[in-house]
Amino acid sequence: MRSDQSSERKEGLQKTAESLSSLAEEIRSCTRCPLAQGRTKAVPGEGPDRAEIFFVGEAPGRDEDLTGRPFVGRAGSVLDRCLDEAGIDRSEVFITSVVKCRPPGNRRPKKDEVEMCRPYLESQIELVQPKVVCLMGNAATRVVLDMEGVTELRGKVFREIFLVTFHPAAVLRNRNLKEAFVSDLLAARKKAEEER
Ligand code: URA
Repeated sequence: MRSDQSSERKEGLQKTAESLSSLAEEIRSCTRCPLAQGRTKAVPGEGPDRAEIFFVGEAPGRDEDLTGRPFVGRAGSVLDRCLDEAGIDRSEVFITSVVKCRPPGNRRPKKDEVEMCRPYLESQIELVQPKVVCLMGNAATRVVLDMEGVTELRGKVFREIFLVTFHPAAVLRNRNLKEAFVSDLLAARKKAEEER
């Protein structure tokens, strides 16, 4: 790589980092929808600016709302364990959810809440430029692909980068799903490695 190309690349990466962190700040002070009123902390998501694998869940739960970090509760432990089994380092992937604030009593996010939050997810994906986006569960699959039915769709790739899989909370409720979830994570890892 020529040195002017390398400095252009560095500048691009710095711009991405700045945009991601200002986006996270915007999310932390967002009042676009009523979920803002009930939150302790918004949960923008976390991960490297140029993560190759990007995970999308549904909505923060109690532990995430208290800490401001994604997937740190029981579903997060399942995700961590399965990432480990698939040989994926959590610190190398980007993790976020469809909505960034906890719905009261952990109810499903409503359609208008999802729509208000959608631009944040779209900007995050655009900035990170991942090689594969794992849509975990129905909420993520619906908002990105406008499709329903994770059980049938899981393990399939759509529009070249979107891989549908189970939500870790579903794996927590039904341990029989774990094998398929880990195999989807392995497929995500393989796809990211092949595209290096
Ligand atoms: N479930 C989600 O979908 N996201 C989180 O951050 C935690 C649990």
